Amino acid sequence: MAVRETVEIDLDRVDALIEEEEAKLEPKHAASIAYRATAGRHVAGGVASSWQDSPPHAIYIDRGQGNRIWDIDGNEYLDFHLGYGAMVVGHAHPKIVEAIQAAAARGTHFAQPTRDLDVIGENLAHRFKLPLWRFANSGTESTLEAIRLMRANTGRDMVIKIEGSYHGHHDSIMFSVTPDRSEIGPREHPVTVPQAMGIPQAFADLVRVIPFNDLDEARRAFDENEGKIAGLIIEPAMMNCGVILPEPGYLQGLKELCHENGAYLAFDEVKTGATLAYGGAVEVFGVVPDIVCLAKAIGGGTPCGAIGATEELFGPVVRGEYDMAGTFNGNPLTMAASRAALTEVLVPEAYEGLNRVDQAMKAGLREVIDRHGMPCSVSGVGAKGSVIYSKQPVREYRDAVGIDERISYLAWLFQQNRGVFKSPWTKQETWTLSVWHTPEDAARYVENFGAFASALTA
Ligand SMILES: Cc1ncc(COP(=O)(O)O)c(C=O)c1O
Repeated sequence: MAVRETVEIDLDRVDALIEEEEAKLEPKHAASIAYRATAGRHVAGGVASSWQDSPPHAIYIDRGQGNRIWDIDGNEYLDFHLGYGAMVVGHAHPKIVEAIQAAAARGTHFAQPTRDLDVIGENLAHRFKLPLWRFANSGTESTLEAIRLMRANTGRDMVIKIEGSYHGHHDSIMFSVTPDRSEIGPREHPVTVPQAMGIPQAFADLVRVIPFNDLDEARRAFDENEGKIAGLIIEPAMMNCGVILPEPGYLQGLKELCHENGAYLAFDEVKTGATLAYGGAVEVFGVVPDIVCLAKAIGGGTPCGAIGATEELFGPVVRGEYDMAGTFNGNPLTMAASRAALTEVLVPEAYEGLNRVDQAMKAGLREVIDRHGMPCSVSGVGAKGSVIYSKQPVREYRDAVGIDERISYLAWLFQQNRGVFKSPWTKQETWTLSVWHTPEDAARYVENFGAFASALTA
């Protein structure tokens, strides 16, 4: 196959194609558009979470089965959004349905521990190589506890985070998630930019931001704040600005740097855990941190979260000095779905299937990119992958921040109009695969991407 020289994307053409694709899409979503108006009378913005409302309009879902979902207009889609990566088990998996039904029939909530705990704890310890676990209801709660645990065990207040990473919706870490180029400041001292209104400056003062994949900048942050850093929290592979992988030695180097400075290393594996591989990023990159934060895929589609850590870190919790608590922590429905997901669906062999589809996705997309000279790169591991619209290799958030969002919006529209549901385009072209996805599903995604590439570069 001839490899075409890389082309510049013509943004006027992108605008014209957006107009065409939006015009095609709108009539297909008449019921969703009408329902939003109805719901909006008493539900703020007509949606349950702000990120359910990305342009051009919120799409309301009726049901899902395996690798497919149907919206309330009756449109059927192959689902690569998968509830922001939570549904690696696929929709309405019979084993998960059975587990939830059985648990519901025995009572849905006691706020007392039940007998699924030890099996799940043992399974997570085996996957992520950390001995002790606690449970929560979301990724937000997992990272909140991780940060507090690092502070509690060091008596220090400051934490380091990576520019361009999202760790959930709480004040202590909601900084520099998708900051604009105009506000990020110099690379050696990135500005700690709040991601939402209403976050006090006092929280920003406790967060030092550094770029991904750069040990020297991490060292600088420790050197400049000697004795003040409780720990460093990181997505071991960045998942919220396309998929950006760590360079060899980076994660191990961070671990050593943290420990030399009396600080802890926390992996936020909310997106990578049980998706990249059986043992998530810990397995793929071969580094065991002090804390692993989980959520999403481990719950089989129920609201879930888990925090794993060393015995040292969990010491204050075990001794009753630190309350890691929540009314719904370890809820029996979540525990039953988690147990089924972890022990019956996301078993080691499941990752062989996910890797086969991942290979088909990456090979097909790369072939389209080369044929059309698209200024893009593809990366993925296991159930997660992405196309990033950049000619240059992307090693950190700053390499991706200038990319025009209209391009990923157009890519999203092309897929949506051709029966593929992707995560909202603002999160770049990130996909998730489920155990129900096949190489034929990958071929459909690639075919739609080919139509997009050909329209853009014709
Ligand atoms: C890496 C990461 N951490 C934490 C969270 C927060 O998880 P939740 O939305 O379950 O609170 C997310 C959500 O997308 C995430 O991507």
